[in-house]
Amino acid sequence: MGIPFEKLTPPKWGGQIPGPVDWTPLELGPRCVLDPPVILSPMAAVTNPPFRKICRELGAGLVVTEMVSDKGLVHRSERSMAMVDLQPDEAPVGVQIYGKDPETMAEAAKVAESMGADLVDVNMGCPMRKVVSSGHGAALLRQPERVRDIFCAMSEAVDVPVTGKTRAGWEKTDVIDVACAMEEGGAAALTIHGRTRCEGYDGHVDLAVIAELVRSVGMPVIGNGDICDWQSARRMFHTTGCAGVMVARGALGNPWVFREIAADLRGEPIPPRPTPEKRRATVMRHIELYVDSFGVERTSREIRKHLLWYFRGTPGEKALRRRLSGLETLADVEAALDAALSANEGIREVAAKSHPRGA
Ligand SMILES: Cc1cc2nc3c(=O)[nH]c(=O)nc-3n(C[C@H](O)[C@H](O)[C@H](O)COP(=O)(O)O)c2cc1C
Repeated sequence: MGIPFEKLTPPKWGGQIPGPVDWTPLELGPRCVLDPPVILSPMAAVTNPPFRKICRELGAGLVVTEMVSDKGLVHRSERSMAMVDLQPDEAPVGVQIYGKDPETMAEAAKVAESMGADLVDVNMGCPMRKVVSSGHGAALLRQPERVRDIFCAMSEAVDVPVTGKTRAGWEKTDVIDVACAMEEGGAAALTIHGRTRCEGYDGHVDLAVIAELVRSVGMPVIGNGDICDWQSARRMFHTTGCAGVMVARGALGNPWVFREIAADLRGEPIPPRPTPEKRRATVMRHIELYVDSFGVERTSREIRKHLLWYFRGTPGEKALRRRLSGLETLADVEAALDAALSANEGIREVAAKSHPRGA
């Protein structure tokens, strides 16, 4: 399934952009202070170490791994270890775990903590059929008692905060029961994507259900859904009273969204869009981090989607698509990047001079 970018539309304003946000850093634990409380969402096959690092460097107050299976962590499977692979300089960083058995979840949380997690998060929102049909992800939305047991076991097992990420409900917006169960189990915070499991990505995110949750529970609530710039972040903070915001699709190809939201929260001028040179430098850094983590072969395969996201909707996207099938070496990747930049801005010569190509 492709990423539903076309559905990433900020809620209708219905008036002026709200004024500055009254916020404080979100302290979830001694090692986990979110300053600013602006978080990179867990995203499967996306929030790996290179992308997490880029987003941290550009202002995210917390980054989270993609969802990792509890059993994979407990058995320390190579695949799960590689998904987590926490780096000291990305802290604070959370590990998101999916599972349904309290004891295994508690064991998995211990493994994540031993790997350096500053927070462990429980996936209670994944809508994918193969995930929910085995009782994981959003299936937990229909089992508040199990949720309580999972949080009790995990909170007992680790010293770092245990949080959960949900949708607004399964079919109806009835997440409050689950949220209360989490709280009883010792959850430190809850992130809510304001759509039900059945809605997928349709329509606008329901800010009213997030606001209701904020009023109904004592723990901090983090608002998620359709945030793609400082205005939509403000809207989320103001309309819901949430303690923090989480960004997923809005960061794909646009990690600069974090410094934009961070600057707005701090009352600083909104940074201008990155110049082509700065854009190139960030994309190159992303590629270099990717190579450090995964080697050239995997990078040239996996970086394609990121490159397409960086140039989505621009003339560069077309130029890039023409070269994607031939990406094998780093030089190919860099040449494709320059072709895309050149199609956008005509800066090929400048870029070539400042970055002589290697093999
Ligand atoms: C490619 C992709 C992968 C995702 N993987 C996860 C995941 O592993 N765990 C999770 O809790 N949510 C996952 N999500 C959901 C997002 O974290 C987020 O809740 C959702 O996209 C709504 O936020 P947005 O409007 O900012 O995109 C994923 C979303 C996308 C687009």
